[in-house]
Amino acid sequence: MLQTTLGSLELDNPVLSASGTFGSGWEGREFSDLGRVGALVSKTVTLLPRPGNPPPRIWETASGMLNSIGLENKGVDYFVANSLPKMKQLAASGRSSTARGPRVIINIGGESIDDFVTLAARFCDEGVDALEVNLSCPNVQEGKLLFSTDPRMTEQAMRAVKKVANVPVFAKLSPNVTDIVAIGKGAEQGGADGITAINTLIGMAVDWRKQKPILGRVIGGLSGPAIKPVALRMVYELARVVRVPILGVGGVQSADDVLEFVCAGASAVQVGTAMFTEPALMVRLLDEVRDKLAAAKTTIRELRGALHRSAPAPVGGSAR
Ligand code: FUM
Repeated sequence: MLQTTLGSLELDNPVLSASGTFGSGWEGREFSDLGRVGALVSKTVTLLPRPGNPPPRIWETASGMLNSIGLENKGVDYFVANSLPKMKQLAASGRSSTARGPRVIINIGGESIDDFVTLAARFCDEGVDALEVNLSCPNVQEGKLLFSTDPRMTEQAMRAVKKVANVPVFAKLSPNVTDIVAIGKGAEQGGADGITAINTLIGMAVDWRKQKPILGRVIGGLSGPAIKPVALRMVYELARVVRVPILGVGGVQSADDVLEFVCAGASAVQVGTAMFTEPALMVRLLDEVRDKLAAAKTTIRELRGALHRSAPAPVGGSAR
């Protein structure tokens, strides 16, 4: 009932962690049985350690949160030696005769295509289950979003990564574009096995008394329930056109949210910001999704993309 697939990657269920909100997953192990989730997606790993952006780096907003972490992490060598074994241990804890256990998906970040390629090759050597290529962090490179605002750059990055990868590769896209479908097509043409939509929306917060921006780096990425309608719309638009599976992400905090993304065309759904307030959320959602599907006498596979079989195209829209 809950099984789903992302290209050649088979998952026990469609509930995944969203990169950046859960570290490597190890931090969350005492709150719930993470061996039950569909996949664990790591915080972005870069080649070299990154100290991240100056504080403040997090700011709560109405129905959401701004972050400007700046891809802080200890670099690939540290991650492979310390965090990856823990992710694999969590994954093994969920494996049984009837369950595959969570898949290990590593999110990689780079400043150049060479960075992405080196990281992809390294993680494939380490036997991970899939890669998510973070083309869309708004908090680095002066927020230029080099790889996710130009379909050709998206395509080139994905093509280069695919040349060295022997596992499914997903492109994580930015919503900060006028035409998400053009970028999604670029990813698909570059050989992406799936598309993660969406990363955060660029925003800012202001302290008028001090007459200053609140975040240390002025701008940050907005996540949480405030962005769910945008994410749903982008998943819907992408699913009308691309053939590769879509990993929906943006403001998920209930089982209904998960099923809405599936209806819009997502094969799996990532849970992020809401886990800051409820670290056990993914496992609760799993149970609730299963109960709702049973009550509706349907499955994830049947429900996926249901909207495209019933909803009219948006006014002025076309299948491109
Ligand atoms: O700033 C950050 O580390 C955020 C990364 C992202 O949104 O991909």
